[in-house]
Amino acid sequence: MPKTFYITTAIDYTNSPPHIGHAYEKVLADTIARYHRLKGEKVFFLTGADQHGQKVQQSAAKAGVTPSEFVKGVTQKFKDLYQKLDVQYDGWAETISPLHKKVVQGMLQRLFEEGQIYKDKQSGHYSVRQEQFLTDKERGPDGEFGSEWGEVEFREEENYYFKLSQHKNWLADLLRKRPHLIVPKFRHTELENAVQKIGGDLCISRPKSRLDWGIELPFDNEFVTYVWFDALSNYISFAGYDAAVKDYASQSEEFLSRWNLVVQTIGKDILIPAHGIYWLIMLHAIGFPDEAMPTLLVHGFWNMSGAKMSKSLGNIIDPNHLADKYGAEAVRYYLISDIATGKDADFSEQRLIERYNVDLANSLGNLLNRTLTMNARFRPTHANLADLRAYVQVLSEDQSVIQQLPHRPLGSDEFYEYAKTLPEEKAIALRAVAFSNQLWDYDNSMGRGSPDFAVQSILNLVIDCNRFIDDSAPWRVAKDKQKESQLVAILYHLIESLRLIAILIRPILPQAAHGIFDQLNWKMELSGKDERFSLKDAEWGGLPDGHVVGKPTPLFPRIET
Ligand code: MSP
Repeated sequence: MPKTFYITTAIDYTNSPPHIGHAYEKVLADTIARYHRLKGEKVFFLTGADQHGQKVQQSAAKAGVTPSEFVKGVTQKFKDLYQKLDVQYDGWAETISPLHKKVVQGMLQRLFEEGQIYKDKQSGHYSVRQEQFLTDKERGPDGEFGSEWGEVEFREEENYYFKLSQHKNWLADLLRKRPHLIVPKFRHTELENAVQKIGGDLCISRPKSRLDWGIELPFDNEFVTYVWFDALSNYISFAGYDAAVKDYASQSEEFLSRWNLVVQTIGKDILIPAHGIYWLIMLHAIGFPDEAMPTLLVHGFWNMSGAKMSKSLGNIIDPNHLADKYGAEAVRYYLISDIATGKDADFSEQRLIERYNVDLANSLGNLLNRTLTMNARFRPTHANLADLRAYVQVLSEDQSVIQQLPHRPLGSDEFYEYAKTLPEEKAIALRAVAFSNQLWDYDNSMGRGSPDFAVQSILNLVIDCNRFIDDSAPWRVAKDKQKESQLVAILYHLIESLRLIAILIRPILPQAAHGIFDQLNWKMELSGKDERFSLKDAEWGGLPDGHVVGKPTPLFPRIET
């Protein structure tokens, strides 16, 4: 059975419209999903909307509409945004769907029957924002509940509880055995520390008198389930999980093939306790084996001048507005390249413009333009690259060269200075060999969920090509008929590099990748299709001798301010 990369994001709360943080997470997951597709791997990418809960009920009441009408409107806004940003998902989760309700109720019934859920009375501090009771452990060093909990009030209630603390040792062991379960590493460590502090059980219900916009408990219709239990289960309900089948291994093939190489992209605010503790324990409690525990890829936050974006501060950035103004690709590029996965970053429209103009308009756009213009102007006729190809072959097997490359990576000054000392064809062959190193970096960065590093690998190629043009001065070479084979080699390398760059950039800039392929006249019969791009084709030398390229048209027009 071919394994599927099952990629998910958090499902967005539908109590308010999308902001740049939501857009970032989906573009990040989309980039990772597209990268796996580029590798020819099977992917199922799930995202969606979190539609139940108190905040939705309150917002709907304020708007004077039913919760169901309210979430429909907001959910559509998320869908429209993701379409605009070219987020290509395979499954869309909506927690009000009957399919989801069936799974959630099935899970609850099972846990209730197995004695994992019990009824109890509780009084204490309650966070309205996080929809949970708080204990003293949640107090900050000053004894107060931090601002992350929002409004905190005193409540007394009878409710149902899930025996969370019973699984504390299992979770601690799991994290010890699987040290890369949470990415990046410092988040793994953070979770390990948090697990040590697990004290009580988890309240999983709300009396209907207080909240009725939720999924009813199957064993007590006076209650609905607590929003996290409902929200987290989306990841399996929309993958085809059947709660009536208790033995994990007896789940459908569809589910088992999907729930396999699972990468769940979430923000740092919902690792502890929601995903890192509740979710992993929930899965364990319903019989998921340890090997089936998902990898959690935890990203950081986009802030505004170091401060959190919030409705109350009025500093929310609307991604729709940015995409309308600068185009979806400019927004995607900024969101992927200007934040290191796991860390926070400051949002700046100025930076968006700058990165677009410098990296895309000036570097990549210019490279494409110069290359195609020179090609059209010089039109070399001789197109036998046998010597160059043979040279690349020799060099790629020369250990003295290979071992040098990590110290002189393509795009670095060291590489450039070294290449300058070599005869033209040898310098090109060296670039061809160095490309495979760059490809390894790219692959590795994408594989660990850091497309920001992958972007740098691509930029290194672009930088080197531009320097190579300046240095080899094809316009001078073109004047000397004796040097035609040299001119052919130079132009071939540039066109070939652009072909490779288009493949590598495809997960981040899907439209621009098509734009480059179109201008190169490459794989035209597959225009607009995914199959046009494959990482397997990203091998220097794949372009046939004498390939005729098209005319240049500006791909990244500069943003003028
Ligand atoms: N509905 C819950 C998640 C349930 S998952 C089973 C939720 N929704 S949310 O709308 O508040 O956030 C959705 C995602 O966006 C979360 O992963 C969150 O971390 C992320 N972001 C929210 N604000 C963000 C930034 N300012 N920057 C980056 N990501 C941010 O939590």
